[in-house]
Amino acid sequence: MNNQDLINEVRRKNDIVDIISEKIPLEKRGKNYFGVCPFHDDTNPSMSVSREKQIYTCFSCHATGNVFTFLMEYEHKDFNQVLQDLATRVGITIKGLKTKKISTKYDEWYDIYNLANKFYQNNLMSKEGEAARIYLENRHIDKDIIKEFELGYSLSGHDDLTKLLTKKGYSLDLLNKIGLTVNDYDLYHNRLMFPLHDLTGKVIGFSGRIITSGKQNKYLNTKETELFKKGKLLYHYHIAKEKVRVDKSIIIMEGFMDIIRASTINVKNTVATMGTALTSDHIKDIKRLSTNILLCFDGDEAGVKATLAAGELFQKEGVDPKVITLKDNEDPDSYILKYGEAAFRDLIKNAIYYSDFKIEALKNKHNMASSEEKANYIYEVLGELVKINDPIRREIILKELAKNYEIGYNTLEKSFQDLLTKQDLKKPIVIREKTAPRKEKDKYQKASLSIMYYMLNKQEIIDLVEEEHLVFPTEALRALESEIVYFYHTYGFVNEADFYTYLTPKVELVNLLAEIISLDLKKEITKSELFDYFKVIREYNIKLSIKKLEEKIKNTHDPLEQVKYAEEIRKLRIGEK
Ligand code: UTP
Ligand code: MN
Repeated sequence: MNNQDLINEVRRKNDIVDIISEKIPLEKRGKNYFGVCPFHDDTNPSMSVSREKQIYTCFSCHATGNVFTFLMEYEHKDFNQVLQDLATRVGITIKGLKTKKISTKYDEWYDIYNLANKFYQNNLMSKEGEAARIYLENRHIDKDIIKEFELGYSLSGHDDLTKLLTKKGYSLDLLNKIGLTVNDYDLYHNRLMFPLHDLTGKVIGFSGRIITSGKQNKYLNTKETELFKKGKLLYHYHIAKEKVRVDKSIIIMEGFMDIIRASTINVKNTVATMGTALTSDHIKDIKRLSTNILLCFDGDEAGVKATLAAGELFQKEGVDPKVITLKDNEDPDSYILKYGEAAFRDLIKNAIYYSDFKIEALKNKHNMASSEEKANYIYEVLGELVKINDPIRREIILKELAKNYEIGYNTLEKSFQDLLTKQDLKKPIVIREKTAPRKEKDKYQKASLSIMYYMLNKQEIIDLVEEEHLVFPTEALRALESEIVYFYHTYGFVNEADFYTYLTPKVELVNLLAEIISLDLKKEITKSELFDYFKVIREYNIKLSIKKLEEKIKNTHDPLEQVKYAEEIRKLRIGEK
């Protein structure tokens, strides 16, 4: 079996409806299944999944593709990883299969970051790395962990890395641009190096920690680039995403060291931000892995503040995360070192809901000796209760409040109901954000896309297009047409889902295909309708030829030539009518 056949078989054995419904709830409506599209902000079921065609299409953001592209997007994996997962799932072995690599303009960047990563790792094990090794030893970080987290060390010279990379042929301009050098010299000196991976696991930058106390910043991060955005990066996500599936929860921590320490006790379903507040991009990527989210921030005041900020954000996104509190200013790193694995696992087990944490935190804001402040506190708690969707938890909290503050349950319940009604009235009517309108297509583009839409669905139309020697107006359209024709001649038919896989290395064409498939055209087309489209395309070609001839007339001074061109134009014009 050749590669393409094997890939197609993996695709066919993994039904797209089954795979997608493991990630998002789908509901059957008519022939197709519908769900909330995970690729844009939405609450409406705008994604349709077709069992018959084995493709999905979002009417709102126009995301479309087959089971491979869905998982690539959804799980931030590359084609080979997804292929491997799906093959394993249905018991197909695909060892040693080489699929075409999708090349991007960032390949060179990735190569450079990988080289730098290797360089730093080697340094740590070299003679110059001794101080850093001692530092790690003192922090109880052993060889295995060093390897697992690819820790490294940057040297004291001002151009150790620069020299290595320029010798390999990379330009200083590029090195400056991607943040490894500043003004042509190494950025990092004498720092313990932590590679930063993107969500798929590619190195896209570094963070370097000082190993002696000094005035410098503790951590120095690579500057933001087209690939590295602090507000999007989650440290350890590429590992966590596998572990979350098993542990069915995800733990958010504050620092690299916390993540690393947790890994030593085999708690690996963890991510950390780059010391910044969580953003809505982070939240989207976290929620995608699990909605069972635990916040495990430092046990100091800043940690409590961070917990409150993160909790509010998650609640806005409809998730009540759980909170692990660490006493006595500990952070997960120091806590685990001090109290060990069992104690930390207990903390995980006993995590409380953020809403309960918040209610407790509100208490500390008020002086309970004053009846006015007590009442304010109770109103604030009721305000929190509104956000809890679970009626049983609501009642438990109301009962506790009633008991602790000696208020009649009915009084509390009534105040709560009043608040609910008020909040309901205040709730803004959500106006759905429309996605940006696509660029208006001209009639030639429209005709071309429509013809291709039918080529994909009806083989006879491929034959007709070939017979008529139709020349599509743009290079991309012509490329896609020739791919359709090629695929058809190879397989005898065009299966849209397989065709997607076949096209995957050609990003531009995939986008074009997606656009075509998401067209909302009627199922059947008559021959005369089709020929109308053909006519539009020919008209375009004639216009183009005329334009070229007119240019020629302008550019020549030979009157005979001019007459010849004019005559050609005249003929074309007659033909056009
Ligand atoms: P922490 O100070 O808690 O760092 O900052 P840590 O990871 O626990 O490291 P140790 O234990 O002191 O060695 C939390 C995170 O904030 C970011 C880093 O991402 C760090 O992991 N940070 C902190 C910076 O980016 N720059 C800094 O100077 C300090
Ligand atoms: Mn810390």
